[in-house]
Amino acid sequence: MDGRLKVTGQAPYAADHDIYGVVHAVIVDSTVGRGRITGIDTRDALAQPGVLAVIGHHNAPRLAYNDNPGSNNPDGARLRVFQDDRVLFFGQPVAVVVAQTLEKAQHAASLVRVSYAAEQSSTELTSAPADQPTSYARGDADAALGSAEVRLEMTYRTARNHHNPIEPHATIARWDGDRLTLWDKTQWVRDGTQKEIAAVFGIPQDTVRVISPFVGGAFGSGLRAWPHVTIAALAAREVGRPVKLVLTRRQLYFGTGYRPAYAYHLRLGSDRSGRLTAMVHDIRAETSTYEKFTESVMGQGQMLYSTPHVRQAYQTVPLDVNAPIWMRGPGHATSAFAIESAMDELAHEIGVDPIELRQRNEPDNDQSTGLPFSTRRLRECYTVGAREFGWNRRNPAPGATRDGDWLIGTGMATAVYDTVRLAARAHVRLDANGTALVQSATSDMGPGTYTSMTQVAADALGLTMSTVEFQLGDSIMPPTPPHGGSMTMASVGSAVQDGCDKVRQQAIAMAVNDVRSPLHGVNPDDIIVRRGRLELSNDPTRAETYQQLLVRNNRSHLEVIGTYAPPEEARWSMSAYGAVFAEVAVDRNLGLVRVRRMLGVYDAGRIISPKLADSQALGGMVGGIGTALLEHTVTDHRDGRIANANLADYLVPVNADVPGLQAIYLDGEDREADPIGVKGLGEVVMVGVAPAIANAVFHATGRRIRELPITAEALL
Ligand code: MOS
Repeated sequence: MDGRLKVTGQAPYAADHDIYGVVHAVIVDSTVGRGRITGIDTRDALAQPGVLAVIGHHNAPRLAYNDNPGSNNPDGARLRVFQDDRVLFFGQPVAVVVAQTLEKAQHAASLVRVSYAAEQSSTELTSAPADQPTSYARGDADAALGSAEVRLEMTYRTARNHHNPIEPHATIARWDGDRLTLWDKTQWVRDGTQKEIAAVFGIPQDTVRVISPFVGGAFGSGLRAWPHVTIAALAAREVGRPVKLVLTRRQLYFGTGYRPAYAYHLRLGSDRSGRLTAMVHDIRAETSTYEKFTESVMGQGQMLYSTPHVRQAYQTVPLDVNAPIWMRGPGHATSAFAIESAMDELAHEIGVDPIELRQRNEPDNDQSTGLPFSTRRLRECYTVGAREFGWNRRNPAPGATRDGDWLIGTGMATAVYDTVRLAARAHVRLDANGTALVQSATSDMGPGTYTSMTQVAADALGLTMSTVEFQLGDSIMPPTPPHGGSMTMASVGSAVQDGCDKVRQQAIAMAVNDVRSPLHGVNPDDIIVRRGRLELSNDPTRAETYQQLLVRNNRSHLEVIGTYAPPEEARWSMSAYGAVFAEVAVDRNLGLVRVRRMLGVYDAGRIISPKLADSQALGGMVGGIGTALLEHTVTDHRDGRIANANLADYLVPVNADVPGLQAIYLDGEDREADPIGVKGLGEVVMVGVAPAIANAVFHATGRRIRELPITAEALL
């Protein structure tokens, strides 16, 4: 629905909104990794023409920073911008310059002189002390490990990754008296940005309006309101003008979150046939000193494979860094690298095919909860994937297949991601002209929400897609969960369907009760709707359009609020699953790794739009190639500076890195998950990609690389 707008440059992203009288803000950020600000000399900056204000802790008003329960803020105290002289991480905002043009603001920002009493910062995950662990145990893992026939012990490491969306984070803030409007890049207009900024300023939530019709990629970076949103609103209030604040590419690395770096220590025990008896997971992840970010990195080790004895400890390590946040396939993509690499190591150790090993450990139910699976079709994912990928042609011996100087290998891994659904609402209005308007305060960071919701609505209302308009991204619309966690289709889609079902039923009831209708008196269940017409199913000559029905009844429109709420009691274990296959070539002289082809086979419930699903699945594979081979946010531990905070030095896959990718979806639906039968797709497609590639690298070379990204130097 929105493709033409996007490719012709007409889709307004956050900074594109043309707001009358807007002035520009540029952030000055800390050049030390920890310490105190001892002075902010603003004289030269303020002397520049067109500069309206320089705001820092020395002159900023105190802000309320009320608690915000139910938000995406992690435990702890959020960074309070310009409220004191503390520097908690390199790149922290310490002042903002507001000027009439962007160039004047940039120049003045370069003239602000900040002095610091710097302290030694601590940014190294492996050497810093950790918080108290979050623990899980079933059975007696230590005893079972002690008596296991086969024992393996490994440590896997993953690099910090940044989301690097093409659209930088940006906010335009305008005050009209006590009311604040924000045009913002966000994945959660209403209970995200709106509620958070209201809490920060201590004002009622309904006095803040957040508008975000398009998001140019986010992958999780828009799941909470970052400090710059507060800075834009604060600056706008101070100068009495609308303020536009766009983070620079470099500032995105300090001003928003990232996928934290991990050290994942794993011990596993099995019998000689490969049946797992025990797993012990010791997991460490970086977080900030002021907020303790945690994510779902433990679940996979509890439920993916049948394992009688499991023990886990998950520790965060507070460092002098800005706080992390979820990034695509959060938690699961990280644990998958450890667990799925380990399964490959076990398969090699005992000489069993990696797919056969997984089949032998397929559980009957979810051992973490005892619940039955709603749907779990992993066996089919393996079978279909093996057939389509040509797995059986593989010589299992590592390093045995060559193509000139290139060593060729194939690998596979399993993917799993929780099916999450939360309460959502949608407003549905069917107009007497035969068109429908559907609105819900969700976002769209790229998966095609405008299109998929239009499809669901058009189906339920019996309208063509061109007569349905779906609107999103405005906090005055009905509430939704965050646009993330693969829950939008399940939650918002179900609310859209509910609203459209109710409107259709209202129209049918109106027709059967209307003596002037050709459908008067018929059984409502015998009426179908299609192409804007209500028809008797076994006699299409008895029919009328919505338009005829509403106009004759003097109704300008029919409208309802559609709702969805998941059941309170969890009766099923629900996840989306996948099997990922990769073929790589490794240059035996240079250590270069080239992915040659990948295949993902997914059990994600009903697929609303195969075209949009492919966009998700192939994009997830591209993201996984990045994590596996390229992406690495590098910190200089001397002062906490990020050394590669730009798209030249932070490597992401480009077209040349991305060969033939293919996705297959097992046809079906999950009726336990939600009324439209979807299990969520956008996250699971990122999970399992990196270990499939790492396993293929092992198969190609015989070298087991346990640290991401896998670089040429690691293979030399
Ligand atoms: Mo997704 S990491 O919830 O945007």
